Amino acid sequence: MDVISVIRTKRDHGRLTDEQIDWVVDAYTRGEVADEQMSALAMAILLNGMDRGEIARWTAAMIASGERMDFSFLPRRTADKHSTGGVGDKITLPLAPLVAACGAAVPQLSGRGLGHTGGTLDKLESVAGWRALLSAEEMRQVLTDTGAVICAAGDGLAPADRKLYALRDVTGTVEAIPLIASSIMSKKIAEGTGSLVLDVKVGSGAFMKDLAQARELASTMVGLGTDHGVRTVALLTDMSTPLGLTVGNALEVRESVEVLAGGGPADVVELTVALAREMLDAAGLPDTDPAKALADGSAMDVWRRLIAAQGGDPDAALPVAREQHVLTASASGVLTGLDAYGVGVSAWRLGAGRARKEDPVQAGAGIEIHAKPGEQVTAGQPLLTLHTDTPEKFGYALAALDGAIEISPPGTAHQAPPIVLDRIA
Ligand code: URA
Repeated sequence: MDVISVIRTKRDHGRLTDEQIDWVVDAYTRGEVADEQMSALAMAILLNGMDRGEIARWTAAMIASGERMDFSFLPRRTADKHSTGGVGDKITLPLAPLVAACGAAVPQLSGRGLGHTGGTLDKLESVAGWRALLSAEEMRQVLTDTGAVICAAGDGLAPADRKLYALRDVTGTVEAIPLIASSIMSKKIAEGTGSLVLDVKVGSGAFMKDLAQARELASTMVGLGTDHGVRTVALLTDMSTPLGLTVGNALEVRESVEVLAGGGPADVVELTVALAREMLDAAGLPDTDPAKALADGSAMDVWRRLIAAQGGDPDAALPVAREQHVLTASASGVLTGLDAYGVGVSAWRLGAGRARKEDPVQAGAGIEIHAKPGEQVTAGQPLLTLHTDTPEKFGYALAALDGAIEISPPGTAHQAPPIVLDRIA
């Protein structure tokens, strides 16, 4: 097998054979195929696509590049959730303990933020003492003791994807649907969950900017999961405006705790409960009511045990950034737009995110949102509070918000899109 013929096949709109796929994924993982060759192939895939059979084989090859986890020792059924990434998307934090409180086991292998979308592990690391890196034995123990675990994936899980994702990130080839679907699903299938709910974000703050693309990605992933024996459902959810009222690590933990205490912003509660219902249904527990577990404090109990089991102090004060800057409304009227991408980039520039994967993040940096689209605002009222430890970044962060806020004349009708746009099973 030679790599140039594999690249030429895809470059010339051909179909890769099973043997070509198995070989190229394995040879790239072992270092026999060079980064520049794999990036040419990734670009050919981005431009010319793959059919369902090719995507299935590519996913299987990435799973086979590493180890598979096994949770069959657990007395509970496993359910997992994956979000394609958004701005203010802290849903995993209340969701994992909530679903565990309702009787499923939630092995949640999560990632760090890169670019304008945040990562669950960065958020939880703002809790004093909390550890993202667990050994396989610790992970099993936390899951057995609390019903949930949220931690970093070990190096042995789909190593082909780890290498390929880093390459795509620097070669403009992240946005290929076959590559996104196989990347996400290879990790989820290797993780060994029995059921999976996908939260596919749609809108300016998401990878998928329009509904048609998001539907294609969702149905590709649902097909891959189902073919591998994982009960998989996808919700397409709105990411045109940030989720909730906070963007940034410690700020989002604070809001998640409010949700677990029975309060929190309506959109975060609605999405958390909708995803919990899907996870419980997929795990064969359709009769449990997640809204009740939020209201009666049982989800909060699991959260506290989960944080403590991973070394964190659930009662410790969360970090607060050293400096704040308040952005006020420039006019009176109806707030008709608060663009997720602009807010995400601004929070990232304040220090909530990283430009390279080895960069540190600021726990307290981010943005508090005081008004959401559809609300009446008065000139001079606070719209956003920007938080950072590096105030020299305020100008740069404010520049990202240029054009992100839209205020229309008083009385303008505004219909916010629903949170859940569609369901694909
Ligand atoms: N998340 C992943 O894990 N992989 C992708 O390709 C995109 C988002």
